[in-house]
Amino acid sequence: MTPWNVLRLHSTGALAQLNRIESGDTPYSSQGAMFNQMLRHWRTLARLTCGVALVCFLLWVYWRPAVHAYKFVLSAEYRRCVLQSRNYELEEKSTPLYVTLEYHGRLGNWMYSYASLLGIAKANAYIPYLSSSHPLVSYFSLTKIQANEAECLQKVYDDLPCTYNPDFMNLPAGNISIDGYVQSWKYFRFMDEEIRREFKMHAHLKTAAREQFWGYVGKYLKEGRLIISIHVRRGDVLRPEARRLGFTAAPKAYFDNAMNYMLERYPHSVFFVTSDDIHWCKENIIPPQKNGMPVPIVFSSSTTSWEDFAMLTLCNHSILSVGTFGWWSAWLANGHVVYYKEFPLPDTKIDFETNKEDYFPTHWVALSSSQSSKHLNLYFYFLFILLEFCLNQLFQC
Ligand SMILES: *[C@@H]1O[C@H](CO)[C@@H](O)[C@H](O)[C@H]1NC(C)=O
Ligand SMILES: *[C@@H]1O[C@H](CO)[C@@H](O)[C@H](O)[C@H]1NC(C)=O
Repeated sequence: MTPWNVLRLHSTGALAQLNRIESGDTPYSSQGAMFNQMLRHWRTLARLTCGVALVCFLLWVYWRPAVHAYKFVLSAEYRRCVLQSRNYELEEKSTPLYVTLEYHGRLGNWMYSYASLLGIAKANAYIPYLSSSHPLVSYFSLTKIQANEAECLQKVYDDLPCTYNPDFMNLPAGNISIDGYVQSWKYFRFMDEEIRREFKMHAHLKTAAREQFWGYVGKYLKEGRLIISIHVRRGDVLRPEARRLGFTAAPKAYFDNAMNYMLERYPHSVFFVTSDDIHWCKENIIPPQKNGMPVPIVFSSSTTSWEDFAMLTLCNHSILSVGTFGWWSAWLANGHVVYYKEFPLPDTKIDFETNKEDYFPTHWVALSSSQSSKHLNLYFYFLFILLEFCLNQLFQC
């Protein structure tokens, strides 16, 4: 019995009227008929919405198994591969297995996934490789490059791009292609040195970057100063759609905090700034005075992001804003690193996909844009004393 029927039973008068209307009798009032028609429309609409929602939900949950089943039935080659992997698990494992990945995003993302690929391969004792047409190949002298794909690649998916997934350290038996970003330093924490060797730039690029870098900061290096890089990403992360995803640009106050933090530790320094919005930087990134002397600052005017990247890796210490581009330049520079604490924006897609402990190495330092937390603590301390005082007064009465 639907709730509507229950309703009718409660008032027999209304029941009679509704019955008449539904059976097509002359309606008592045109208002009643209109109401009834509206009700029917709403019911149809509600049913339709529920149906569509249900189909979407089922598709969402069962999409991958459904595709797998579909291919298994329709493609003989796919069937052969799946069976081959099954057999592989049963037979003695004489032939090696391979693992590779599909690429997404840009330079920083590619580097992250390649480093993770090497770590995952090592943990599983698989052979890692990238296709020789991978864009990373044009920057670094990578050693794990292969002209041909391994046979029978099975896909595994990484659904949370910036969260460590221990399942990857124990892959299914078979040749595997990872689809996703796999961005956590925990995948390769046991092989930092090897990763650093992989990310050796091609000689001609390295020479060019060194020359350019020397042009910018050579005279300060001669003075024995340390070079602290500041990477300021703004352009694309300021767009509304990027903000909705969880991106944000670090504000001036954060860079002030970060510069102060670095100067407390390395007073004899110079700042080297690269950005996709160098005009903003020239107006907003102003180093504090040190012993009454201005701290020098140099702005890169390079127009290619690769040149900036290469120069960032040559700096001694790093101040980051957001994104994997800065992340990797800092990891390679291998000095003291400060990153922006308020990225990603809370309750956004990227926030959901990111576990900060998996994404940022533990020894990197998170700073925010609020005034130094020392002051904030002091503020809470006074608030606490005041509260205590009030409570005391209250109870003494
Ligand atoms: C993995 O790929 C290699 C090289 O193409 C192939 O010889 C081997 O049979 C494949 N193994 C499985 C289990 O598919
Ligand atoms: C700082 O960086 C410069 C340029 O890469 C390098 O020559 C120098 O040795 C570094 N200084 C320290 C103390 O690491």
